Amino acid sequence: MCGIVGYVGDQQCAPILLDGLKRLEYRGYDSAGTAIYDGAGIDVRRAVGKLRNLEKAIDEAKPQGSVGIGHTRWATHGRPSEVNAHPHLIGDVAVVHNGIIENHLALRARLVERGATITSDTDTEIVAHLIDQRVREGADIEAAVRGALGEVRGAYALAVLSAKEPDRLVVAKSASPLVLGLGEGEAFCGSDIPALLPYTRDMIFLEDGEMAVLERGKATITTLAGAAVERAPQRIDWSPVMAEKAGFKHFMLKEIHEQPRAMEDTLRGRLDRENGDIHGLEIGLSDEDARGIERVYLLACGTSYHAAMTGRYLIERLAKVPATVEIASEFRGRDPIIGPGDLVVAVSQSGETLDTLIAAKEAKSRGAKVLAIVNVIGSAIPRAADAAFYTHAGPEIGVASTKCFTTQLANLLMFSVWLGRRRGALDADQTRALVEDMARLPHLMRDVLLGTRQLVANLAKRYNEARDVLFLGRGMSFPIALEGALKLKEISYVHAEGYAAGEMKHGPIALIDSSVPVLVLCPKDPWYERTLSNLQEAKAREAMVIAIATEGDEEVRDVAHDLVEIPEVRTELTPFLTVLPLQLYSYYVADFKGTDVDQPRNLAKTVTVE
Ligand code: M6R
Repeated sequence: MCGIVGYVGDQQCAPILLDGLKRLEYRGYDSAGTAIYDGAGIDVRRAVGKLRNLEKAIDEAKPQGSVGIGHTRWATHGRPSEVNAHPHLIGDVAVVHNGIIENHLALRARLVERGATITSDTDTEIVAHLIDQRVREGADIEAAVRGALGEVRGAYALAVLSAKEPDRLVVAKSASPLVLGLGEGEAFCGSDIPALLPYTRDMIFLEDGEMAVLERGKATITTLAGAAVERAPQRIDWSPVMAEKAGFKHFMLKEIHEQPRAMEDTLRGRLDRENGDIHGLEIGLSDEDARGIERVYLLACGTSYHAAMTGRYLIERLAKVPATVEIASEFRGRDPIIGPGDLVVAVSQSGETLDTLIAAKEAKSRGAKVLAIVNVIGSAIPRAADAAFYTHAGPEIGVASTKCFTTQLANLLMFSVWLGRRRGALDADQTRALVEDMARLPHLMRDVLLGTRQLVANLAKRYNEARDVLFLGRGMSFPIALEGALKLKEISYVHAEGYAAGEMKHGPIALIDSSVPVLVLCPKDPWYERTLSNLQEAKAREAMVIAIATEGDEEVRDVAHDLVEIPEVRTELTPFLTVLPLQLYSYYVADFKGTDVDQPRNLAKTVTVE
């Protein structure tokens, strides 16, 4: 994980580096550091813990200089400590790194044999030694980095500063994200777009196996082998304000409330209401391709996996194509039977999740076509895929994914309708009706958020002492139950489980007693009657039952202890609405507990390790 940032220009770079690191802190927050060329040498400041500790150190030391690099860390090799924090300064060379150097132990042994003193437990320090060695032998910094990377195996996004050539930074990338930004007389690098947004919107995405020399207003890109690469900057239309908290206490709460807007942006230009169809999907498939698909494989992790699970229901229901969903990290290891005729849909907010990236590449290498449903433009998964169908949720900063989940659902629904229409599983009237209903989603979501917010906050307050919480749902509500449990676990550290409601009697029912709140998703859908029976079974075991049900459902009102109502919508739209009170519930429980909602312990926003 980790976040890196770099600046070369004429402004004082300490505030720019700190600002970039603040925006990257979601990627890791166990220590942070900066290296700035101050005219005489490289000034390194490092601090363990949250970024405010580094901020304090910099405030005291006030390093001066207009070229520098910074890092926020999520430990992979070596515990969080100052000595393991980046940047690593060896001789005249400072390095920040995101990724894992797989052969670091062998390289470490070789360096020690040659007399190097290695002070940290990190793989990054090894790279710094390899570069420094070459600089001491007379190589310029670009050649030294190129040479060192020739010895290294693994994943990296690196930024390197040398006191011998203080007007430039050298950066390189392999399997970890790195974005370059260009401004008037200045250049930047960062692990993602929001880190650079306040300074420039002109960005270049470095590809794997490439490096670049950043100088004032200029980025010279080459392959690791030294071949020149021409790549013009892309203009990014996210505004910096989209990455601020906008008055909300936490990014997560802001992002929950942004969902109607994110939905509008994601549906815009894709719902053809005039002709009652879906159009303009960047999915790289012709109508004929759509008819030729034999099976859809959905691959994802975490919350995106729950979206993919919902996608399976949508694809089978609306397009009548067999669909399989799999946790990306499990896919590769089992030698999957997949090939031409299969369409793989890789779902990811960040587009950088290594498990999903590897699974998508594996599927592609076996002849399947890969479609990426991703939020971050130009990230690794869409680059590895045959086509990218972006959600337009804007930057998601809270580690707990919310608006990206519902916009992933939107893309999966649009794709299913498009596919169903092309394959003749949906006729013109059915398609038109679906399109009309989808167009109402932003408005419906806004109503649910405003209408349930206070009630859910009260419930969260009432039940926030519970040590265990169950979430139950059937059919399309099953993945939503899983998602509700994941949200609660990750930000409030409360033990929560999501179950298929019908599975409860096969074991989990033993967990139930009067201390366990059970949230039951029972909207009016094809599974309603059976879910209601499960709700009653939970109540009979003295659970505190909170039902998320359709407005006006008197039957549920009579049985449940608490009722959160959502408007009546067609089955395919229920997940978009039922998930909203669950997101709010986990948020308020966590907030009452006083946990670090946006940066929960042990987690990172983007998981670029296997
Ligand atoms: O960026 P991705 O969607 O590929 O990330 C996948 C998971 O790491 C992510 O959804 C994770 O589970 C979130 N923290 C959930 O809120």
